[in-house]
Amino acid sequence: MARRIGIVNEKGGSCKTTLTVHLGAHLATRRSARVLLIDLDPQGHLGKTLGYDVSAYTRTTLEMLLDEERNPGLFVRRTRFEGLDVILSNKSIALFPTVAAADPERHFRLRRCLDRLPGYDFVLMDAPANFGTTMLNILAAAQELIVPVNASFLALDGCAELVKTLSGLPASPGFPAPALRLIVPTLYRPTRLADAVVERLNAHFPGRVHEEPLRYDVKMEEAQSHGKTIWEYAAPSRSARMLAALGDRVFALGPAMEQPAGATAQGSRVAAAPVAPAHRASRLGFGREG
Ligand SMILES: Nc1ncnc2c1ncn2[C@@H]1O[C@H](COP(=O)(O)OP(=O)(O)OP(=O)(O)O)[C@@H](O)[C@H]1O
Ligand SMILES: [Mg+2]
Repeated sequence: MARRIGIVNEKGGSCKTTLTVHLGAHLATRRSARVLLIDLDPQGHLGKTLGYDVSAYTRTTLEMLLDEERNPGLFVRRTRFEGLDVILSNKSIALFPTVAAADPERHFRLRRCLDRLPGYDFVLMDAPANFGTTMLNILAAAQELIVPVNASFLALDGCAELVKTLSGLPASPGFPAPALRLIVPTLYRPTRLADAVVERLNAHFPGRVHEEPLRYDVKMEEAQSHGKTIWEYAAPSRSARMLAALGDRVFALGPAMEQPAGATAQGSRVAAAPVAPAHRASRLGFGREG
């Protein structure tokens, strides 16, 4: 069965899409994995980052989620990378919560679609930067979460929000909370503040913060604007090396350990508990440091 990984952070601009595309391309091309990327963000940046002009497409994630009669495979597109497929989104996905509102099972639509898309080693889901029906679909479908965290003061807000979200999931066997596998500091610049944020993350998620942050690197922005990965645009760069190492780590982690049905949401609540107080404490700490 595929490892289903949500790339999530309720804070915008934390490099969710960047990591989704690069992890997918690395796992497919360097690890010979069969990988499916799914965009669930109305900005459609996943497709744009891969070089698609997504605005006019009608065979998108929204249509897949709404038309459960059809084979979800019809919405999958091959990318230029061997082994890497994608289901694109555009603005239309913003309609999903409204259109699906009357369905009491609406949070499980993505999971049901994935159950009918066999043959992948990895499914990577690029989340929107807000909480709602779409995000709940990701949390219901994912077994694992990777959380990119912009190494800035407000980033801790996004992390605290995510932990609150996870701990608030209904503790039912039908809605097991995914495991928070990895936190990846992003847009890092070597400043005291950024180092303090990373330190804080390490204190609260020991062993789960990726050691090497993704540094602020204008080449990453340039690569995205050309619809290219960093390996296509600037292969010798530090970012290219870092993202390859991150892909190898995700591969090496292996699937999340299966947790007893019904105990998962509670488990994540316990693991998550220290973050909110730490977040408050960090605010004080930063205030003192000025
Ligand atoms: N290492 C980097 N250095 C500088 N800019 C970067 C880097 N990585 C990504 N970016 C840029 O940062 C911006 C945000 O990245 P990205 O779109 O991946 O974030 P996101 O979390 O998906 O955002 P959103 O919440 O809006 O979906 C993009 O313009 C991207 O090109
Ligand atoms: Mg994005």
